[in-house]
Amino acid sequence: MGKLRINGNRLWDRLDELAQVGAIPGTLGSSRLALTKEDGQARDLVVSWMRQLEMEVSIDQIGNVIGLWHGKGTDRNLPPVMTGSHIDTVRSGGRFDGNLGVLAGLEIVQIIKEQKVLTEHPVAVSFFTGEEGARFAPDMLGSLVYVGGLDLQTALNTISVNGEKLSDELESVGYSGTAPCPGITPKIFLELHIEQGPVLESEGIDIGAVESVQGISWTELTIEGQSNHAGTTPMTMRRDAGYVAGRISTFVRELTDQMGGAQVGTVGKVDLTPNLVNVVASKASMTVDLRNTSEAMLREAEDRLATFCEEVSRKESVKIASKSLARFEPVEFNQDLVSQISTTAKNLGYTTRQMTSGAGHDAQMLARVCPAAMIFVPSKGGLSHNPAEYTSLEEISAGANVLLDIMVNAAGGCR
Ligand code: HGY
Ligand code: MN
Ligand code: MN
Repeated sequence: MGKLRINGNRLWDRLDELAQVGAIPGTLGSSRLALTKEDGQARDLVVSWMRQLEMEVSIDQIGNVIGLWHGKGTDRNLPPVMTGSHIDTVRSGGRFDGNLGVLAGLEIVQIIKEQKVLTEHPVAVSFFTGEEGARFAPDMLGSLVYVGGLDLQTALNTISVNGEKLSDELESVGYSGTAPCPGITPKIFLELHIEQGPVLESEGIDIGAVESVQGISWTELTIEGQSNHAGTTPMTMRRDAGYVAGRISTFVRELTDQMGGAQVGTVGKVDLTPNLVNVVASKASMTVDLRNTSEAMLREAEDRLATFCEEVSRKESVKIASKSLARFEPVEFNQDLVSQISTTAKNLGYTTRQMTSGAGHDAQMLARVCPAAMIFVPSKGGLSHNPAEYTSLEEISAGANVLLDIMVNAAGGCR
């Protein structure tokens, strides 16, 4: 079939329009935490585009949205070829993280329609609820429920970092759907995403053929000490939760230095109580994000963190409660699909390399039920989860063209 190409400017314009929803003033980025008003507005905008494309839109019980395209001659009984990602963002979100994968999917459906491509399989474009996990843990919550990896009721009862219930927030944005979870199993799932790291840019490579995702371990630590006067309390009498939180933060960095290799560790959230200049903190609530490509090494990192917490809690006479917020082992993607990405990229004249993903993605959940893989495009300066996140029009077009080619072939497309 003759060369199909996406309309890069149209995709770019949609990315720009979506970025205005929850825009962070003075930046290219957006702030649209899962199931906030802004997330709801973004959902409405993307659903309106799906309907303009005459796609059938279904909303499931956890708020995942699946747009389905059946062209002439499509066999509705065949499993859809699915692409997609997420449109919720972190608080300091960029305009490409997740959004690119969803809007590239819509662009592909529009090309299929415009070029009168007939597909045997339906084509589905999805966005999943709460991929970031920043407001409602774990991350990839919606796609995990979609594949049956998390019980729906448990997910609906999830409490946010600020104490709101997920099901209430889902109702409030109007996306408490009726389509059953787990959802329909696709023939394949292919996700286009920015790399969010420095590899492709530093090597001057156009397309990443993503073959795996590293393991993720999120832990919430609650440290209970004793508030006391900052001036009068002798250092030997303190049970200082703020000090212990600081020691744990430093330990996490030292642990990654000691372990080296792929080990990464982040303390991104620390809340002190009463959080006042002249009061020894009675309580600290903090999160530790550990990741490694090796499950065995990730377990070792978790064990060493737990041992350190025991030691420091004894020395400072504080109590430390630990709660797992997310725990996913490393995931291998479908090697045939990964090879197809490499081959297609080369055939389209792009440079390419195979790689692993440092970030979690919905594709790693879909990989539990169908062949799945990811296409990466470069991130300027390797920056992401930052409003200055940037990928050029040429780069997103390259990724979307590779996605288009594989999706149309997988759907049995012909003209
Ligand atoms: O945390 C992650 O890896 C992703 O951004 N949800
Ligand atoms: Mn993402
Ligand atoms: Mn993200």
